[in-house]
Amino acid sequence: MARITGGIATSHVPAIGAAFDLGKTEEPYWKPIFEGYEFVKEWIKDNTPDVVILVYNDHASSLMLDIVPTFALGFAEEFESADEGWGRRPVPVVKNHLDLAAHVAEQLVIDEFDLTLINEMDVDHGCTVPLSLVFGEAEEWPCKVIPLAVNVTQFPTPSGERCWKLGEAIRNAVKTFPEDLNVQVWGTGGMSHQLQGTRAGLINEEFDKRFLELLAHEPEELKYITRLEYLRETGTEGIELIMWLIMRAALGYGVEEKHRFYRVPASNTAVGHVVYETKS
Ligand code: DHB
Ligand code: FE
Repeated sequence: MARITGGIATSHVPAIGAAFDLGKTEEPYWKPIFEGYEFVKEWIKDNTPDVVILVYNDHASSLMLDIVPTFALGFAEEFESADEGWGRRPVPVVKNHLDLAAHVAEQLVIDEFDLTLINEMDVDHGCTVPLSLVFGEAEEWPCKVIPLAVNVTQFPTPSGERCWKLGEAIRNAVKTFPEDLNVQVWGTGGMSHQLQGTRAGLINEEFDKRFLELLAHEPEELKYITRLEYLRETGTEGIELIMWLIMRAALGYGVEEKHRFYRVPASNTAVGHVVYETKS
């Protein structure tokens, strides 16, 4: 049977992707940020999954504002890196695991998640920057990736409780897939940041650090953070943290935190990153 063996969460700051692509990882501004990912780059060599379910948000790069699905599962054979205004990032194409994607889609609908299926899509920095941070430079990504896009761009965004339930449903779906697959769930986005308006540049280190602590040890506390609290405490874009909740719920209980990293600033955000292993 398929099983979820671990999870990763990370910020997905587009400027990190640009620094990576332009060979700036050793520059004084970027070096301490990339150092925070040295652990995961080693860890992933011993823990390469067959499939990553990559929970992220599109930033109106591919999913424009004409249609805004709450939860949308990538159903194409493959996904190219999106052109976000500077051309496509020079990274490998993301290849889907269609059998698992079909199973997850069916189980989630049975579980009363009215999922949107995306048969054609490019993936933006929310998906490709984490892949670069974890796998480094690659000719091909070493595993299949099922992108799962969550709406955080237009209100009403899903609640923390709904995201938690989605994570649990993903867990149940994976467990009932008959093929013997090693699956990881990743959540990308966050942490506190605001990109526009009078509070642009807002960072709330205290909130972020508490979030990291609770995510590891009392994660269900986090599902009660309301969207208004995210807005007040973490800025307009801090809502991206709900993707971390989906990842965490998908891992279930008995999770070991292998790595935690937090640094301010990276571009406009506080960069956060964690690596978890499931014990069972
Ligand atoms: C930045 C961070 C993001 O998560 C994002 O999607 C876009 C920009 C930033 O810090 O610049
Ligand atoms: Fe983002």
